[in-house]
Amino acid sequence: MQAEGLQGQEIIGALMTPAGRGDPYALYAAARKLGPVFGGADLGMYVCTGHDEVNAVLRSPEFGKFEREQIIEGWQESLVEGGSVDTISRSILDANPPDHRRVRSLISSAFTPRRIAGLEPAITRVADQLLDELERRGSRGEPVDFMEYVAFRLPVTVICELLGVPEEDRARFRPLAHDLTVALELIDDLAKLAPADAAALELRAYFEKLTAQRRAQPADDLVSALVQVNSADDGRLSDVELIVNLTLLLVAGFETTTNLLGNGLELALKRPAVKKGLAGGGIPVEDFVEEVLRYDSPVQLTMRVALTDEARIGGQRLKRGEQVLLLIGAANRDPARYPDPESFDPLRPDSAPLSFGGGIHYCLGQGLARLEAQIAFSRLFQRFPEIRAVAEPVRSDRLVLRGYERLEVVLREGE
Ligand code: HEM
Repeated sequence: MQAEGLQGQEIIGALMTPAGRGDPYALYAAARKLGPVFGGADLGMYVCTGHDEVNAVLRSPEFGKFEREQIIEGWQESLVEGGSVDTISRSILDANPPDHRRVRSLISSAFTPRRIAGLEPAITRVADQLLDELERRGSRGEPVDFMEYVAFRLPVTVICELLGVPEEDRARFRPLAHDLTVALELIDDLAKLAPADAAALELRAYFEKLTAQRRAQPADDLVSALVQVNSADDGRLSDVELIVNLTLLLVAGFETTTNLLGNGLELALKRPAVKKGLAGGGIPVEDFVEEVLRYDSPVQLTMRVALTDEARIGGQRLKRGEQVLLLIGAANRDPARYPDPESFDPLRPDSAPLSFGGGIHYCLGQGLARLEAQIAFSRLFQRFPEIRAVAEPVRSDRLVLRGYERLEVVLREGE
């Protein structure tokens, strides 16, 4: 996309078009020319492209999420109760302290490094079963869709096992999550939120039923553990908080990881040396995953708002309520932080991308997502070292959650 010389408003406008969503990186490069931070009152927000600036805002207590009153005021009668914006804005993803701290601490015990490391054998078993299925479908050289058979199924299986969502209910979640996550995009037309609202309401009904079942008959899973806290009725977890955070965990837990798997496979298939390095062990899979996260982050941006009049970005002072767009995808390619940022180099030292955010909202599932991707890629390339793409992969028309809809592969040479 022709992006050089564009100004702030034009860049933001272009990011909201199909072409901009398809390749936001040219627009980020144009944005970077305007500075690591630009915008202000004239643009209706500040925009950060610099790695240090994005990182600092994420970690600063002077910045946070929109307060509930701001959301109600901003959306007015368009805010659907129990709909997508309402659900996400009541979850920990959009909460500020002290509510954020209270609820996050209840969920985070399920995601400690020890708990996650303990899931390795189970994740490996699921990954191997999915690769068996991929092989069955592609055994005679038929093209198979990696997104459908592996990238979606691995994370959905893992998060549903953790939550305690029965197997027969899982297939329904792909379209529901896909619809609901539209609410995380930069929206220019409220009508686009109708399917997202419908998905949120359906998930709410689903989790109301599941939590009632677990209340009557607890099991050894995260839903039961949270239901138990909620049943204590001591102000630690309200009924609404229980439902919206289960919905968040489900949705945040797989759409993003699905995209990490798809983005990573596409990058490796376009680079024979990388594919060979992964199959032969010359490239450590952990380093490959970090570089995929940096180079084509499954989450491209997030927003913050100044919580006080003391909020600063660099030398710039903001007023309470002013908004900041944090372009994670641009920060991950900031030449001030990464030498030769536009090249994909899994052996790059000290990558530490901002793809999982930072500060108090640092992704709760980052350890799980990393582990799933490491296991999936190491099993995939060891088993199918000749795997190749058969068609141009099809991108989802999304900016914030960046990934592929379809990625068809053939598993062996000569097939
Ligand atoms: C590659 C996969 C993933 C990516 C790139 C990703 C990215 C992110 C980012 C950027 C944030 C912070 C957003 C912000 O600061 O506004 C976040 C938060 C969060 N993520 Fe992830 N995520 C991934 C996988 C997961 C998984 C597997 C789970 C759950 C099992 C998960 C659960 C969460 C939750 C609950 C939050 C909110 C945390 C809070 O606000 O305190 N994520 N994620």
